Amino acid sequence: MNVNVFKETFQRYLTMVEQTLAQLPWGKDTLNESMYYSLIGGGKRIRPVLALASAEAVGGQPQDILLAAVSLELIHTYSLIHDDLPSMDNDDYRRGRLSNHKVFGEAQAILAGDGLLTYAFELLAEPGHFLPERQLRVIKEVAVAAGKAGMVGGQVADLAGEGKTLSLEEIEEIHKGKTGAMLTVSARLGGILAGGTEEQVGALTEYARALGLAFQIKDDILDVVGDSETIGKPVGSDLKKGKSTYPALLGLEGAERQLHVETLKAQSALEPFGKSAAFLNDLATFIEQRQH
Ligand code: IPE
Ligand code: IPE
Ligand code: MG
Ligand code: MG
Ligand code: MG
Repeated sequence: MNVNVFKETFQRYLTMVEQTLAQLPWGKDTLNESMYYSLIGGGKRIRPVLALASAEAVGGQPQDILLAAVSLELIHTYSLIHDDLPSMDNDDYRRGRLSNHKVFGEAQAILAGDGLLTYAFELLAEPGHFLPERQLRVIKEVAVAAGKAGMVGGQVADLAGEGKTLSLEEIEEIHKGKTGAMLTVSARLGGILAGGTEEQVGALTEYARALGLAFQIKDDILDVVGDSETIGKPVGSDLKKGKSTYPALLGLEGAERQLHVETLKAQSALEPFGKSAAFLNDLATFIEQRQH
């Protein structure tokens, strides 16, 4: 796919996601305001975009799965709000603005996260949008990916690893949990809801597992060499907290090498799709090269 087609397709998905998020029935109270504050503006929307692109890769219509795709962004945003709390990574900036707790206070930030997580499942369970069998399967998978066996479990392991020198295998496990699980379920959600075959969903899974690891390796690299204005969050946060990261263990060059290995692994998993996965292929390159 040429660069312009990739950008146009990304923009097409992004517009759908932004419109859907903005048009949810947001109230005017503090809870709604704090949820909306972190959700709208600034995010790259990689998870819903991945879901929409996966639906299209298996022959479905992205707009048919939009409500489910944006639910992933609600869960992701909740995880960011909690991740920034003083008791976790203690970061004051997120998506180019003050972190949720710096604006609304810690208690409200916790509750904004709770509200987003719960609202995500309200959207996922919305009747009349999806075939019930596929919908139930996806609700369960998202719950598993977001929970103790996935993102939350990974976050716990990430905190427990602070100040320790972990092995590469241990860091990989953390990354697969805290970041990989939500990216993997995003691709699966798109494939399943759009009626992909088990082979197609399997290939998407293999792709997204490698992509998820690549995504967090790049996040770790940007925490060292990124520009805080561009990434919209503090640089050097991992070093300050003694986090176990790829650059900390392997050095920048070693981390870059692993990033490339995972990117190629992701792309080779797409072979069964041929041309219909051109966007997903380019998305992996985009993630490898991103500066934010
Ligand atoms: C940041 O995620 C946290 C990680 C899981 C690495 P993103 O880099 O997707 O953050 P936004 O959504 O674009 O702000
Ligand atoms: C967080 O990883 C992953 C989440 C589940 C939010 P990081 O702690 O490295 O994410 P950033 O760098 O703060 O976005
Ligand atoms: Mg963290
Ligand atoms: Mg963090
Ligand atoms: Mg980080």
